[in-house]
Amino acid sequence: MADLLLGQVLSFRDDPFEMGEAAAQHIEQGAVLVEGGLIRAIGEAAALRAAHPGARLHDYGRDLISAGFIDAHVHYPQTAIIASWGKRLIDWLNLYTFPEEMRFADPAYAEEIAGRYLDLVLARGTTSICSYATIHPASVDAIFGAAKARGMRVWAGKTCMDRNAPEGLRDTAQSAYDDSRALLQKWHGIDRLSYVITPRFSPTSTPEQLAVLGALWRENPSCLMQTHLSEQTDEIAWVKELFPQSRDYLDTYEAQGLLREGAVYGHAIWLTGREKARLTEAGASLVHCPTSNTFIGSGLFDMGLARSLRVGLATDTGGGSSFSMLRTMAAAYEIAQLRGEALHPAQLWWLATTGSARALHAERQIGNIAPGMEADLVVINLASTPAIAQASTRAETLWQALFPTIMMGDDRAIRDVWLGGRRYS
Ligand code: GUN
Ligand code: ZN
Repeated sequence: MADLLLGQVLSFRDDPFEMGEAAAQHIEQGAVLVEGGLIRAIGEAAALRAAHPGARLHDYGRDLISAGFIDAHVHYPQTAIIASWGKRLIDWLNLYTFPEEMRFADPAYAEEIAGRYLDLVLARGTTSICSYATIHPASVDAIFGAAKARGMRVWAGKTCMDRNAPEGLRDTAQSAYDDSRALLQKWHGIDRLSYVITPRFSPTSTPEQLAVLGALWRENPSCLMQTHLSEQTDEIAWVKELFPQSRDYLDTYEAQGLLREGAVYGHAIWLTGREKARLTEAGASLVHCPTSNTFIGSGLFDMGLARSLRVGLATDTGGGSSFSMLRTMAAAYEIAQLRGEALHPAQLWWLATTGSARALHAERQIGNIAPGMEADLVVINLASTPAIAQASTRAETLWQALFPTIMMGDDRAIRDVWLGGRRYS
């Protein structure tokens, strides 16, 4: 039986970084028809009700129906260390992250955190994530198992590290290749799951490990490859020491076959001119992690890159300080303001939905409301707290009504979540 969701409906016909707010489509008394896991139609409520009299109705009144949020860069194993005080990247990794990731040697702990993490993000309207696991293969099984049980479209991969990490968190070039390959064969393309080849970052991989992962990627071209790039200046100086023969940070990946379409680089703040040109030429994706970049003190991402590259948006849990893509949009707005640009709410919303889907090469499946796309939806209450309600009540446009929720909203703004055509919450 078909479901017909009634409310205000927001979708995108185009890229608001090119077309401005005209890229968005807002239907004030709108409807979305869902059947068999897919969106079948979007339009005026009256017309769709008349055309589908047998559909089950879900009347959301003045609430906003949107594609679910897509968090394009997270570390689900860092759920329990989110909001840890006082360190910059390398010290933060050593003091908080690595000891926590060590606990994932226990598959039961990995399962507990994977379930906890997905429930936290679903409650915040995030319907898809792209995650790093830990070096332990069971940590990949845990997140895919939890995603499969919930019907979520999820990307994940075993984090590979064969140096500059503590004993117990290191693999080797060979075992990274073997384990990644086995996990890829086990999970890639099962239900809504995709394996991602995942070297953590150049400081924790030898050139030999990067090279075998480059080979694995060539052998499995339908996979994405994710890693970190140019997040902090001290990290970049360290990469220079570790790879004296490389032209720059990107070259440490490029030289090993880890740069092409389907490469997804987190952070990418301190890029050189050559790096920007090569990333654009290669068709790579970047992921902006604004709450992480302020929280760990990394720097201000150049959103101008969204005009030439696929750019997604992410929390970077747990370097980021929030599980919420609303808070993440707010931080993206604030960072752009510090660089002298006011991002339009349409651009912020697009980044958290279609932009992230494009960064993950899944824009035909998720991240928008259009016939044939998978029915991952979020329903937003635009007056979820007294503070937001009093600011949005005088709004004359959708954008004025939505912006207070972008800036001040949290899990209370999430009225409902639909996953693969089924009501989740
Ligand atoms: N660079 C390498 N590993 C990490 C990580 O876990 N978080 C962040 N923010 N940056 C990284
Ligand atoms: Zn990260």
